[in-house]
Amino acid sequence: MNLSFRPLHPLFAAEASTIDLRNVADSDTLAQLRVGMDQYAVLVFRDQAFADSEQLDFAQRFDGQLHSKTGIAALYNNRFGNEALTDISNVDETGEILSTNDRRRAYALGNRLWHADATFQDPPGRYSMLHARILPPVAADTEFADTRAGYDALAPEMKARLEGLKAHHSIAHSRKTLGFNFSEDEEDRLRGAIHPLVRALPYGRKALYIASHASRIVDWPVPDGRLLLLDLMEHATQREFVYAHSWRAGDLVIWDNRCTLHRARPFDDAKYKRELRRVTTLDLPRTAAHAA
Ligand code: OGA
Ligand code: MN
Repeated sequence: MNLSFRPLHPLFAAEASTIDLRNVADSDTLAQLRVGMDQYAVLVFRDQAFADSEQLDFAQRFDGQLHSKTGIAALYNNRFGNEALTDISNVDETGEILSTNDRRRAYALGNRLWHADATFQDPPGRYSMLHARILPPVAADTEFADTRAGYDALAPEMKARLEGLKAHHSIAHSRKTLGFNFSEDEEDRLRGAIHPLVRALPYGRKALYIASHASRIVDWPVPDGRLLLLDLMEHATQREFVYAHSWRAGDLVIWDNRCTLHRARPFDDAKYKRELRRVTTLDLPRTAAHAA
């Protein structure tokens, strides 16, 4: 099947032509989708009718093994009985809106900080595939920033300074910036992961690999590292690098966590339900079965 992509932003993000991803299994179409991901880093697919198992199956066909540790498992009993299907919603297991003081709500509000998925794990997440099921009648966008464009726009001296640096990422760190507290036992289980600050993508571009989870630069004094990370986040999330996605029910948005940041925007979540489901793949080297 021949696909086309309509750009949604001057630098990245595109909407794919009509396609039913539930039926996509042939290597030619999957390869066209991977080429599209390398070019645009964020792809929007309208009117996808995924059941949970179909969303999980498509993610595996497209990019391989699924990530089952993109959050803090201990906090939620996964509503769907599968840790690879992440509940991106403001409702509890009975489908009722979480109360304003619910710890699970406070935890989920962390998605409103600029981040990439599961950078606090090793391996982190590669592709995230978020499917919109129930949307509020008001705007509740997701914003994306292209960190390849952010990297390209750095001064040559800054690029040289970043070469070889590594950052420590921790979900305890990002949640604490919102005032969320962890028990000692939880902190013990959330030690985080270390990743290069600049990632070289297999197709030749480089990207800043930063996130609200990034807590320090390895081997640097903590304040110096945090100040550099704050500067880089400010640089990478300038409006010229940002695409804001206005959701429609049935949208599937796929983003490449290696080279984008994203965040949820606020809405009246005490009043309206917003339910999406995310499947994220493990950022492992691709096997031949999934090569573009
Ligand atoms: C996610 C996420 C943002 C949103 O699904 O990983 O951060 O707008 N979602 O719900
Ligand atoms: Mn996320």
